[in-house]
Amino acid sequence: TRTSKAQNNQIHIFMRFFLLSICLFFSVSSDFEEDLQAVLSYYRCSDSICGILVVNENTDLPYFQLKALFEPLQTLRGGMRIENTTGTSIVNNSQLIDAKAIYNTYPISTPSEECPFYVLNNTKLDVSTLCESSNYNQFLEIQVYNNKKDCGCRGDQLTSGNMKSYKKCIALFNGLELTNMTTSPDLKSLSKISVIKGNIEIAYTNFTDLSFFKHLEKVRGRSFDSPETVILDIHDNPNMIRLGLNAVSYYLVGNVEYQWEGSMNLENLHPDFCLTYQEVTALSTVRFKNLQAKFCETEMDTGYTKSCNFTSMKNLDSDCVIIFGNVVIDSGDEEHVGKLTETIRDIYGSLTIQNTNLEDIRFLNSLNYIYFLHETIPVIRIINNPKLKKVSLPYMMSIFAKGKKEVLIDNNAPNLFRASISCLAFQHHIGANVTYNGRNCKAIDETKTSGEFGIFHVHFALLTLLVY
Ligand SMILES: *[C@@H]1O[C@H](CO)[C@@H](O)[C@H](O)[C@H]1NC(C)=O
Ligand SMILES: *[C@@H]1O[C@H](CO)[C@@H](O)[C@H](O)[C@H]1NC(C)=O
Ligand SMILES: *[C@@H]1O[C@H](CO)[C@@H](O)[C@H](O)[C@H]1NC(C)=O
Ligand SMILES: *[C@@H]1O[C@H](CO)[C@@H](O)[C@H](O)[C@H]1NC(C)=O
Ligand SMILES: *[C@@H]1O[C@H](CO)[C@@H](O)[C@H](O)[C@H]1NC(C)=O
Ligand SMILES: *[C@@H]1O[C@H](CO)[C@@H](O)[C@H](O)[C@H]1NC(C)=O
Ligand SMILES: *[C@@H]1O[C@H](CO)[C@@H](O)[C@H](O)[C@H]1NC(C)=O
Repeated sequence: TRTSKAQNNQIHIFMRFFLLSICLFFSVSSDFEEDLQAVLSYYRCSDSICGILVVNENTDLPYFQLKALFEPLQTLRGGMRIENTTGTSIVNNSQLIDAKAIYNTYPISTPSEECPFYVLNNTKLDVSTLCESSNYNQFLEIQVYNNKKDCGCRGDQLTSGNMKSYKKCIALFNGLELTNMTTSPDLKSLSKISVIKGNIEIAYTNFTDLSFFKHLEKVRGRSFDSPETVILDIHDNPNMIRLGLNAVSYYLVGNVEYQWEGSMNLENLHPDFCLTYQEVTALSTVRFKNLQAKFCETEMDTGYTKSCNFTSMKNLDSDCVIIFGNVVIDSGDEEHVGKLTETIRDIYGSLTIQNTNLEDIRFLNSLNYIYFLHETIPVIRIINNPKLKKVSLPYMMSIFAKGKKEVLIDNNAPNLFRASISCLAFQHHIGANVTYNGRNCKAIDETKTSGEFGIFHVHFALLTLLVY
C-alpha cells in the first residue's frame, strides 16, 4: 500500500486503530483506495483481500472511506502488518462510544514479550466487559482506566491500605502479592475477583484460608520460559488450614505459555492443611514445587462419581472410579483384578502389586491419576511377581505426591525392561523416578555387555511406544 504524508497529528493515533473500526473523522484524500482496488481486481477477490495490508505511521484515510472499502470484507488472505505503533492504545477519544470491534480482534503476542494494550481516557466509552473477552485470555496486562466504564484492576498495586478500592474488581492484571498481611475485614473487597492474570504470592500472613476470594475461578500466570517459576505460590502462612476457594473450576491454575503447565507451591502452612476433593480435582493439571498437604478426610465427596474405600481387592466393588486408600494387589487377588478394568480412574493412595502370578497390568489401563499425600514410601511398588513381563500405564496423566515420586519395580519376570530406553520411556510417561531391580533406568544398559542386545533394545523400546 502506497501512502501519502500524514496531514495532521491525530491521524497518527487514528492509524493505530482504523482496523478496529473506531469512529473518528478526518478529511484526507489518499490513493490507498486505488491500491486496494488494484489488489482486489488483480487477485479477483470479492469479499476477501489477498495481499499484505500494511499500516504504518504514514497511512491516512478517512473513516468513511475505510468503512465503505472494508464493508464486504470477510476474510483477509495474506497478512496484515501494523508497524511502528506500540501495541494497541486507544487514548483520549472524547467522542468514542463504541469499541466493540476490539472485542473481536485477536491480538497476537508472545506471552514472554507481550504487546502493550491501553484503553485510556475515553470519557464516553464503556469497556466494562472487555477484560472478559476470550480474545484477551492470553493477556496478562491490559490497562483500561479513566473511561466511562473500565474493566480490570492492577493487582500489583494492591496494598493493605488501598484494598477497599478493589471492591468492584472482577479481573486483576499484573499478578498479585499478598505478603506480610494479617486478616482484616478489608479482604472482603476482593470477593468479586474471578480472574487473576499474572503470578501470585501469598506469604507471611496469618490467613486461615483464602475464602475471601469468594469468586476466584482462574489464575493465569506466566513462567517466563523457566519451569521453576511458580505461578501460585502459597508459603509461610502458619495458620492456613485450607485453601477454601469455593468457586474453583477444573482448570484453576494455568500458564499462558503453552509449553509449560500451571505450577503451584504449598509450603510451610498449618500442619493440618488439607485439600478437598473439589480442590484436588481442580488442581490435577498443576505441577507442584511443594505439596505439603493432606486430604480433607471429611470433604472428599465425589458426587455422582462412584468412589470406594479400599480394604481389599476381594471386598472391593467392581465399578469404583475413584479409590481412597492404599491399593494392595497381593497373592490370591489375581481373580479380582478385573474389577478395576475400564472403571478405575483415580487412586488417592499408593499402589502396590506384589507376590502375584499376573503377567501384565492391563487392568489398570484406564488409570489417570494417583494422589498420594501421606507417606514418603514409593507411590507405586511392583515387586515379586515372577510372571510379570510388562508394565505400562497408558492413560496415566499425573502422579501427585507429597515427597519424592518414586516407583519401585523389583524382582518380576527377568527382562521386564530389556533396555534402559524402555524403562526411561515408562519413567518419563508417568513422571516419576523408576528404580528397577535396585538401580535406576540407565543402569540397565550398563550391566549388559555392549553390542549384544543393542539394536534389539531400540526395537523393543520403539515397539513399546507404538503399542501405546
Ligand atoms: C519505524 O520508524 C523509524 C523511525 O521513524 C524508521 O526508521 C523505521 O524504518 C520505521 N519502521 C517501519 C517498519 O516502518
Ligand atoms: C491525552 O491527553 C492528555 C491531556 O489531557 C495529554 O497529556 C496526553 O499526552 C494525551 N495522550 C495521548 C496519547 O495523546
Ligand atoms: C488522561 O487524562 C489525564 C487528565 O485528564 C491526563 O493527566 C493523563 O495524562 C491522560 N493519560 C494519558 C495516557 O493520556
Ligand atoms: C515480609 O516479611 C518477611 C519476614 O519477616 C521479610 O523477609 C520480607 O522481606 C517481608 N516482605 C515484604 C514485602 O515486606
Ligand atoms: C491475625 O492478625 C490480626 C492482627 O494481629 C488479628 O486481629 C487476627 O485475629 C489474626 N488472625 C488469626 C487467625 O490469627
Ligand atoms: C470411607 O472412609 C471415610 C473416612 O475414612 C468415610 O467418611 C466414608 O464414609 C467411607 N466411605 C464408605 C463408602 O465407606
Ligand atoms: C528423581 O530423582 C532425582 C535424583 O534423586 C531427583 O533430582 C528428581 O527430582 C526425581 N524426580 C522426580 C520426578 O521425583
